[in-house]
Amino acid sequence: MAVDLLLGLQWGDEGKGKIVDVLTQSYDIIARFQGGPNAGHTLEFDGIKHVLHTIPSGIFHPTAINLIGNGVVIDPVIFQKEIEKLEPFNIALETKLLISKKAHLILPTHRLLDAAAEQAKGKAKIGSTLKGIGPTYMDKTGRNGMRVGTLLLEDWKERYEQLKQKHLHLLDQFQQELAFDLEQAEVEFFDSIEALKKCPLVDSEHYLHQAMKAGKKILAEGAQGSLLDIDFGTYPFVTSSTTTAAGACTGLGIAPNSIGDVFGIFKAYTTRVGSGPFPTELFDADGERMGKVGNEFGATTGRARRCGWLDLVALKYSVRINGVTQLMMMKGDVLSGFPKIKVCTAYQTPEGPIDYFPYDVSPELVTPIYTELEGWSEDLTQLGSADQLPESLHAYIDFLEKELETPIKIVSVGPDRTQTIFR
Ligand code: IMP
Repeated sequence: MAVDLLLGLQWGDEGKGKIVDVLTQSYDIIARFQGGPNAGHTLEFDGIKHVLHTIPSGIFHPTAINLIGNGVVIDPVIFQKEIEKLEPFNIALETKLLISKKAHLILPTHRLLDAAAEQAKGKAKIGSTLKGIGPTYMDKTGRNGMRVGTLLLEDWKERYEQLKQKHLHLLDQFQQELAFDLEQAEVEFFDSIEALKKCPLVDSEHYLHQAMKAGKKILAEGAQGSLLDIDFGTYPFVTSSTTTAAGACTGLGIAPNSIGDVFGIFKAYTTRVGSGPFPTELFDADGERMGKVGNEFGATTGRARRCGWLDLVALKYSVRINGVTQLMMMKGDVLSGFPKIKVCTAYQTPEGPIDYFPYDVSPELVTPIYTELEGWSEDLTQLGSADQLPESLHAYIDFLEKELETPIKIVSVGPDRTQTIFR
C-alpha cells in the first residue's frame, strides 16, 4: 500500500492542518515527518479552532493513529501543553499517538542557542520562531543530539547534563544578554518528560512497514513549505529540515517507490513570515487587504505575515521538486473583491527574463513579470460545490492548472472543515 504525502508549496502557512483534517477520513495513519513546534497547524470545526504544533492533524479523527516520525524535533514542554489542550476531547492518546524513538528532543538550551544566534546576526537575522529548531537539527547532524529513545536509558539525566554543559560553553562564546530563566525552563522540561513517556515510544519505521504490509492507508504530513527547505528554499532564510517530498522518506523511513499521491497545498496568493526574499511581496493597500481579510498572523508566533500575489515561477519549482500529483488551492475567498488578480509568470533579471526559480531571488536580482486576470466580487465562503464558483475564478483555476500541468482538486473557501470544495 502506497503512502500519500501532503506538503506546503510556498513559505508555509498554506493551510496544511485543515486539509489533513479534511482528508483524514480516508486514512488509517497520519504521520508527521519533519519540523517541530515552529509549525502551527490550524483546524476548525464545530465552532472550535485548534492549533497543533507537534501533534499530527489527524488527532481528532475517532480511529486514526497519529505518529510523530524520526524526522521531527520535539519540545516536550510544548508537547505537554498541546496534550493538555486536548484533554476536554477525551482522545485516547496512549493508543492513538505514537512517537518515534529516533525523533530528537529540543532542550531548553537549544532555545537559548537559537535566541543567541539570531541576536548575534543583527540585521541579517532569519526571523526564526525561536523554538530551538536550528540548534536541535545541528546537534542531530553533529551527532550530539538527544533522542526520545535516550529517555529510556537509566543515565538519561547525565546525558542531558553533558549536552547542556556543551551548550552553555557555546553560549559563552556568543556573549549575548538573554532574558531567559534556565532553572525554571528546566523544571518544566523534566516535568514534561513524564507526559511524553505516557505515549507509546516506538520504532516508527518498523511500525509503518508493518502497517503498509497490512494494507493500512498512510498520509505523511509535512510542516513549513518547500521554499523554506534547507536545500531548495531561499537559503539562508529557511528552516533546518527537508520540507520537500524527500523529507518524508528520511523522516519516516519510507522508500521512494512506496510514495503514492503527493498533495501540494498553496494559497491563491503568497505569504511569508520572517526575513528573506519574496519577489511578489506587496507594500501597498492590496497587500494590506490580503493580510486583513486573510487574517494573516502566525499561528505559532502571532507575527503579521508579509503578503503578495501568487508566484507561479516559485510554485512550478515546488511542484517539480515534490512531484506533486494533485493541487489544493487555499483561501480563494480572500481574493474576492479585487477587480484584477495578478500572477507572476516570469522574473526579469539582469540577464533578461527567466521562467525558472534561480539561485537567488533577492529584489535587486529579480523583478516579477505579471499576467493580469479578471477578479471576482462574489463572497465564496458559503458556496458548497464547484459549479457555484464564479466564472472568473474558474478562469483563474484553469490558468493555474494549465501553467502547473497539475489538477487543482480542492478549492478552500474558508477556515472551517465544511468550507471545502472538491473538483
Ligand atoms: P525556524 O524554523 O524557527 O528556525 O525559522 C526559520 C524560518 O522559517 C523563519 O523565517 C520562520 O518564520 C520560518 N518558519 C518556520 N516554521 C514556519 C511555519 O510553520 N510557517 C511559516 N514559516 C515558518
